[in-house]
Amino acid sequence: MILCKDIVKVFPDGSGCTSTILDCVNLEIKDGEFVALTGKSGSGKTTLLNIIGLLEDTTSGQVLIENQNWQEKTRKEQSLFRNQKIGYIFQSFYLESEYSVYKNVELPLIVAGVPRKERKKRVMECLDKVGMLPKAKSKAKLLSGGEKQRACIARAIVCNPEIILADEPCGNLDDANTTRIMELLVDLKNEKRTIIMVTHSMEDADYADRKIAMHGGKVYEENC
Ligand SMILES: Nc1ncnc2c1ncn2[C@@H]1O[C@H](COP(=O)(O)OP(=O)(O)O)[C@@H](O)[C@H]1O
Ligand SMILES: [Mg+2]
Repeated sequence: MILCKDIVKVFPDGSGCTSTILDCVNLEIKDGEFVALTGKSGSGKTTLLNIIGLLEDTTSGQVLIENQNWQEKTRKEQSLFRNQKIGYIFQSFYLESEYSVYKNVELPLIVAGVPRKERKKRVMECLDKVGMLPKAKSKAKLLSGGEKQRACIARAIVCNPEIILADEPCGNLDDANTTRIMELLVDLKNEKRTIIMVTHSMEDADYADRKIAMHGGKVYEENC
């Protein structure tokens, strides 16, 4: 279970003042849930996802995953946990552009210390799952937007994470690619993974079991 307790996030607003982006957010996400996080641009969706993904600190409040308070752990403990348990699909991909698709997907397994033979098996399995086996040897920079997103998903799932965080995974994609990515996320949900997907598309949000809207620094449960 993921538990956000009284999360506050304050940023400097650039004019010497501060702006409260998350204003005492409380949220409970059960194992195996597929949650869509919606809201206007600037409403704090990415900030909340980054906090849950242990990529950003809170100003105050706690993130409990598997009953442990990750805000009070060291960076090293956080990154080890992230590597083993969390797959992050970034809006802007963050693929290593000069590396092949294969190498990009293999990187988290190298970090996790998985032996080469096992790495190969898992990379190939994940590339197959996202339909990217034919592009395994292509440099990331030569891929289309949809292909980059699929490579990004393969990289996010290669360590078999229990939690998948996806930030606008279809933000830059056409309808056909969007449907493909959303079906992949539903497959992952059916494998009992917990998914939190940020989206501004109501159609994409309809794939989720639960919708949470962000507005004015607060979260609101929406009835599906
Ligand atoms: N590192 C930062 N420093 C200052 N302001 C930030 C920072 N990150 C995000 N913000 C501000 O926080 C607000 C919410 O951003 P974000 O979480 O990216 O929203 P969303 O993903 O919903 O579009 C925006 O106004 C943004 O400018
Ligand atoms: Mg965002």
